[in-house]
Amino acid sequence: MQANVVVVGSLNMDLVTRAERLPQAGETLAGEWFGTVPGGKGANQAVAAARLGAAVAMIGCVGEDAYGAQLRQALLDEGIDCQGVDTAAGVSSGVALIVVDASSQNAIVIVAGGNGHLLPASVQRLDRLLQAADVIICQLEVPQATVAHTLARGRALGKTVILNPAPATGPLPADWFANIDYLIPNESEASALTGLPVASLQEAQAAASRLLVLGVGKVIVTLGAQGALFADGQGFAHFPATRVQPLDTTAAGDTFVGGFAAALAAGRSEREAIAFGQQAAAISVTRAGAQPSIPYLSELQGSTP
Ligand code: RIB
Repeated sequence: MQANVVVVGSLNMDLVTRAERLPQAGETLAGEWFGTVPGGKGANQAVAAARLGAAVAMIGCVGEDAYGAQLRQALLDEGIDCQGVDTAAGVSSGVALIVVDASSQNAIVIVAGGNGHLLPASVQRLDRLLQAADVIICQLEVPQATVAHTLARGRALGKTVILNPAPATGPLPADWFANIDYLIPNESEASALTGLPVASLQEAQAAASRLLVLGVGKVIVTLGAQGALFADGQGFAHFPATRVQPLDTTAAGDTFVGGFAAALAAGRSEREAIAFGQQAAAISVTRAGAQPSIPYLSELQGSTP
């Protein structure tokens, strides 16, 4: 299999509980359920792209523990090429502690584990995967140097390069922007990257404009129930969200990114790809968990990426 989408990013085991509300500092709450669910932004995006029609390869790193084997197997079960998923000796796999409240919002604490051992040299060793790809996707749950290398190499190879800047804690290095075709932050990430408030569509436009000035190709700000804002320097387009009753928003953004990438790799226009990613994300929020919530192509209207 030759992968047309390559994801360079994290794999986490999500330790998930549901509670009436999120705990406050110093508070102990009773959870209603507990489960271990395969997740991690990179792996979720790889699964989404694979379920939605792309041939996918994953470049990542797990720890030497039972979670690592389970995370790798979850990707193999989706037909994802895992030759690029290393195992780091003497560390745990990445773990995310997640609480989901009654209104479907979540709070997450991440332990990087093996993800922190995904170094630029690992990606260099797998350059043949990047060479064969059409679309390359990165997020921010692996070391910055690895993301920087992947973005620059993707640009040098003339590939379509997507950065989902999640989780974002502040501005991105200035030399990254010119290597990014599509920057896809949510509201809080767009705010962290620009220092601007991003709650409304107008504020999202201002943040997107700032990011375009910094040199990124195009920006898609995902706005949850408010849909998505696309900006390309020529103008803006708003894509309203499909109305659904959300159960758990974990991995909704990942489903959007993976679906968007799969549709681009299949030759769809970027506007069609945005609508496709949104359709997939709308289904994912009606289901619990990260990877279990991601829909298959046959569940989407039209069923072609
Ligand atoms: O985007 C959702 C993901 O964020 C979860 O699966 C969790 O692992 C964290 O990385």
